[in-house]
Amino acid sequence: MLIAPSLLAADFLHLAEDLEMINTSSADWLHLDVMDGVFVPNISFGFPVLEAVAGACRKPLDVHLMIVHPERYIKQVAALGTYMMTVHYEACTHLHRTVYEIHEAGMKCGVALNPSTPVSLLADIIRDIDMVLVMTVNPGFGGQPFIEHSLSKVREARTLIESSGSRALVEVDGGVTLNTAPGLIAAGVDVLVTGSTVFHALDSSAMICELKNIRIS
Ligand code: DX5
Ligand code: ZN
Repeated sequence: MLIAPSLLAADFLHLAEDLEMINTSSADWLHLDVMDGVFVPNISFGFPVLEAVAGACRKPLDVHLMIVHPERYIKQVAALGTYMMTVHYEACTHLHRTVYEIHEAGMKCGVALNPSTPVSLLADIIRDIDMVLVMTVNPGFGGQPFIEHSLSKVREARTLIESSGSRALVEVDGGVTLNTAPGLIAAGVDVLVTGSTVFHALDSSAMICELKNIRIS
C-alpha cells in the first residue's frame, strides 16, 4: 500500500517544514493537486509553486491535473521531474494521444475518473496506462466526505485491470481517513491519497505510518 499525502492540505505559510516532514516520513509519493478554476470550481497553485516544491521534495511527485487541456503542459510537468502525471478522462478528447505524449516525455501516466464517470470507459486504454485514479469525492476541494459508491468503482477498476492483463495501479483521492481506508484496501486499492487526514493530524508523520500499516484481516 502506497501513501501519497496531498500538499493541498498543507500549511502554505510553512511549506518548507511540511515538505521536510514528507521527506523524512514513510510517505511513498507526494500528491500535487493542480486546479484551474475551469475544470473544477477552485484554483490551487501553478508552476512557480510546483517548481519550488519539486526542488525541495525527495519523494516521487504524483501530479494530479484538474485542468482543461492538460496536454498543453506535458513538457512543463516533465521538467519538474514528475514520476506520475495524471489527467482527467473528462478533460481529454484525444486521451490515447495524450497518454502517448506523457510516456514520450518520460513519465508514468494516470487517468482520473470523476465520481459520475464509469470505469468501463477505460476498457480501450487500460493496457496503455500506469494508474487509474478513482475520485472518491467530486474534485476541487479537500476535506469533503467520501462517496460510498466509490468502493464498487474500485472493485470494477481492479477487475478490469486483472481481466485485461493491464499492470495499472489503482489510486483513490478524497475523503480517505482511518475509517474509510480499510474498505478501500479490501476493495483493491494500491495508492491512498490523503490530504486533511495527514496534514490536520497532531502528528502527521505518525498518521502516515498508521495509514500505511492498516492490515485487512
Ligand atoms: C480533491 C483533490 C484531493 C484532495 C484530497 O479535488 O484532488 O487530492 O487534496 O483531500 P482530502 O484527503 O482532505 O479529502
Ligand atoms: Zn488529487
